[in-house]
Amino acid sequence: MAEVTRRIGLSLGADICWPLCFEHMMKRLDLRIPVEGDTVRFEVERVTIEPFNLRQPVKYDVVVDRLTHWLHTSREWIKKGILMNDLYVFNNPWSVQSNEKHTSYCAMMQLGMPIPETVMVPAKSYAPNPDTRPTLQRYGKLFDLGKIGDALGWPMFLKPYDGGGWRAVTRVTNAKEAWKAYEDSGTAVMHAQASVEGFDRFVRTIGFGPQAHHVLYDPSAPLHDRYTMKTDFLTPGEADHLRKVTLTINAFFGWEFNSCESLRRNGIWHPIDFANPCPDSQVTSLHWHFPWLVKSYLRWTIFCAATKRKMPRTLDWEPFYAVAAKDLSYGEKLDRYAAIADARFETARFEEFCAKHLGHLDEVAAEFFGTREAKDAVRQKVAALFPAHEVERFTELFWQRIQAWRAAGAVG
Ligand SMILES: Nc1ncnc2c1ncn2[C@@H]1O[C@H](COP(=O)(O)OP(=O)(O)OP(=O)(O)O)[C@@H](O)[C@H]1O
Ligand SMILES: [Mg+2]
Repeated sequence: MAEVTRRIGLSLGADICWPLCFEHMMKRLDLRIPVEGDTVRFEVERVTIEPFNLRQPVKYDVVVDRLTHWLHTSREWIKKGILMNDLYVFNNPWSVQSNEKHTSYCAMMQLGMPIPETVMVPAKSYAPNPDTRPTLQRYGKLFDLGKIGDALGWPMFLKPYDGGGWRAVTRVTNAKEAWKAYEDSGTAVMHAQASVEGFDRFVRTIGFGPQAHHVLYDPSAPLHDRYTMKTDFLTPGEADHLRKVTLTINAFFGWEFNSCESLRRNGIWHPIDFANPCPDSQVTSLHWHFPWLVKSYLRWTIFCAATKRKMPRTLDWEPFYAVAAKDLSYGEKLDRYAAIADARFETARFEEFCAKHLGHLDEVAAEFFGTREAKDAVRQKVAALFPAHEVERFTELFWQRIQAWRAAGAVG
């Protein structure tokens, strides 16, 4: 049996905590996985940013990417790797680049999801361009935001069509507030969206390959308390429903790692924000949920690298549209979309792989998240974000939450 090494590259920005934990745990796992007569070992390395020849080889089998949405050199290096070097990467860089929130709303509306009514409005102002004035004078129609609000119902949300990071999101209750928010929106192209008023649950579902994790979310809390530590807030049927919604979105867009926010009103789950293909992975917001995330990074990366899973280079939307066109209820369609997603993410094969080769992962995680190395990873992230006098207090806060996760049996 030959020993072969799969190389995993971490393409990182401001990430501190999860890569440290990923690297430490990879060492502790000390994997030797038999695959087709070989023994597969793993090496993890951080990807550097430097000039590259388009014809030069790429040394990685799998790259976990956190830069594509804003660092163009890294994004283009990744594209070259997929096109020329058989690189596997999550997420699909073309999809991250071009499918913004607006596209995700349109596609999922067409698939039948109960997305709130949404109207796009032209930008308030434009970057200088000699064609702007004649174009708008000829074709730009005056519009009344008050009437749009009357039609959608008040209150409504004004938010950028390509969203992210709660930037310029305003809840407006009347025409005057709507115009004020619009006046302040600058060159951003905005959506006016009906508010899901009176919702009784707000859940953020993190999808990672075929894995899904639901968090009860409190948008009114300070950042470190938004991901609540509550459990038992979904029936098994609801958890399954939200998993199907999230995996459908992720399989459709080639986002193997994404999060989906859904609001429940009158028993119906309305997805409102699901174009987050580089979702928050920091212990400072995830705390109790952080070990789940690190384990999910490891499981999916190891599975893709060990099995030499083929990177789906293109997105294939037709099978979803074929289901959407059928005379079926939303629930029946969702079952079929999710079946496509489970096939694309190889759910059954993945679960079998984890049971066979990663049976010790939970135990390794439970132990690791009690060590000095783990606490140091938490402290380093806190020190990067919090003022000096708060570092000790918040390190302890997040650390205690992780210890509560361990005390609760380190499940999830
Ligand atoms: N239609 C809606 N109904 C009710 N609440 C909404 C709606 N749209 C947005 N919100 C609220 O505003 C918040 C921010 O909106 P949204 O998630 O769409 O923007 P974002 O910039 O993508 O946010 P982030 O990247 O921080 O998740 C939501 O988490 C939710 O609390
Ligand atoms: Mg959001």
